[in-house]
Amino acid sequence: MMKKHTLILLAAIALAGSWATVALTQPATPPAEAPEPPPPPQPFSPGLDDLMTMLVQIRHTKLYYAGSAKNWELAASEARELRNSFDRITKTIPLYLGNDVAQSMGVFGTPHLDKIDKAVADADPVAFTKAYKDLTEGCTQCHAYMEHPFLVMKVPAGPNTIFPDQVFTPLP
Ligand code: HEC
Repeated sequence: MMKKHTLILLAAIALAGSWATVALTQPATPPAEAPEPPPPPQPFSPGLDDLMTMLVQIRHTKLYYAGSAKNWELAASEARELRNSFDRITKTIPLYLGNDVAQSMGVFGTPHLDKIDKAVADADPVAFTKAYKDLTEGCTQCHAYMEHPFLVMKVPAGPNTIFPDQVFTPLP
C-alpha cells in the first residue's frame, strides 16, 4: 500500500508533465507589432584619431617614399595633400582637450611642411631628409602636447612594403 506522501509526489510529477506538454504544444507567440524602423543615417562625425589614421598617417608615409625616391612631383602632391588634411582637420575639430587645434598645427605641423615644400621645390634630397625628420618629430611633439605622449611617430625604415600597389619612383 502506497504511503500518502508518495501519492502526492506522483500526482505532482504527473501534473508537471502535463503542463510541460501544454507549454510545448502552444504555438509561438506572434510578434506584437512590426519591428521599429532603423534610425535615419547620421552625418559621419570622425574623431581626431580617425582623421589622423585616415588622412595624416598615410600621407606622411607616402610623402617619405616619394621624397626618398626623388619623385619630386609626387612628393609635392603628398605634401600638399598633407597640408590640406591638417587644414580640414582644424575645421572639423577646432578644439581638442581644450587645445586650439589650428594653433597647434601652426606650431608643430605647417612650419615643417614649409621646409618640405622648399626641399621639394629645390629637388634637394639632403634638405628633404632633414625636413622630413623635423616634421616627424613635430607630429610626436604635438601628440605629447595634447596628452598622447605614447603616440610616437618615426621616419619609415627601409623600402616601401606598406603600399605595394603604388609606384613611388619618378616617371621615366
Ligand atoms: C595639432 C597636433 C597634432 C599634429 C601636428 C599631429 N597630430 Fe597626430 N594626433 C594628435 C592627437 C591629439 C591625437 C590623438 C587623437 C585621439 O586619440 O582622439 C593624434 C593621433 C594620431 C595617431 C593615432 C591614431 C590612431 O587612432 O591610432 C596617429 C597615427 C597620428 N596622430 C599621426 C600623426 C602624424 C604622422 C603627424 C605628423 C605628420 C601628426 N599625427 C601630427 C594631434 C596631432
